[in-house]
Amino acid sequence: MSATPPSVPQDPWEAAYSRFETPEREISKFMARLRHAGADNWPKESAVVELFCGRGNGLQALARIGFRNIQGVDLSPRLLQQCTGTAKTIVADCRQLPFADHSQDIAIVQGGLHHLPTLPDDLDQCLREIRRVLRPNGRAMFVEPWNTPFLRIVHAFCNNFLARKCSAKLDALATMIDHERITYEQWLTRPHAILCIVDKYFVLEQQSFAWGKWNFLGQPRS
Ligand SMILES: C[S@@+](CC[C@H](N)C(=O)[O-])C[C@H]1O[C@@H](n2cnc3c(N)ncnc32)[C@H](O)[C@@H]1O
Repeated sequence: MSATPPSVPQDPWEAAYSRFETPEREISKFMARLRHAGADNWPKESAVVELFCGRGNGLQALARIGFRNIQGVDLSPRLLQQCTGTAKTIVADCRQLPFADHSQDIAIVQGGLHHLPTLPDDLDQCLREIRRVLRPNGRAMFVEPWNTPFLRIVHAFCNNFLARKCSAKLDALATMIDHERITYEQWLTRPHAILCIVDKYFVLEQQSFAWGKWNFLGQPRS
């Protein structure tokens, strides 16, 4: 006789993240970001690791662009269970990466660094780890929230009850922000410290600050 597994209560942040965007919408967004960074010209046999990969839609985007050697790392086994596709996924803390020195060609983080509990120490540790695992001619790509005028407008809508009632997506975003408020605000209010640590480990190739996002592409600093 098979027993019914006890239902695992979903973490409220993860529940809001799951309803923020459909997987297809998220995959298209990630493909557009990767293409903007130049991913169509990166060798498709590159060893690519997506850190803080969540439910894995960034891994799907990489696969659709043609990468064949993809791995994902996240702290949440519940989110990694939702990953489909052929990428290998690993439950681990991105402050201690489960990879050998200089074993990866490309490391990608989309919306993960702002979840680290302490700034600057955890960011320093995580970026040092990313530099350690990248080959000397490797690439790091980061996309994280940034306190631009657009983001301030989004925050104003998040604080508006009626706007949240009218938009399920806005309500999901506001709920996520509520649950990650400490690390989110810490991240948004320390831009100088963040960019100094990034500069310590990576040489800038491309960078932009627009539409509430910081987009960074760089190479490991030797
Ligand atoms: C905003 S989500 C981003 C997920 C995915 N990159 C995306 O954009 O959909 C942040 C993710 O970071 C993960 N996370 C938080 N702290 C972590 C850590 N120290 N190491 C690995 N993953 C972590 C969470 O489990 C969550 O999946």
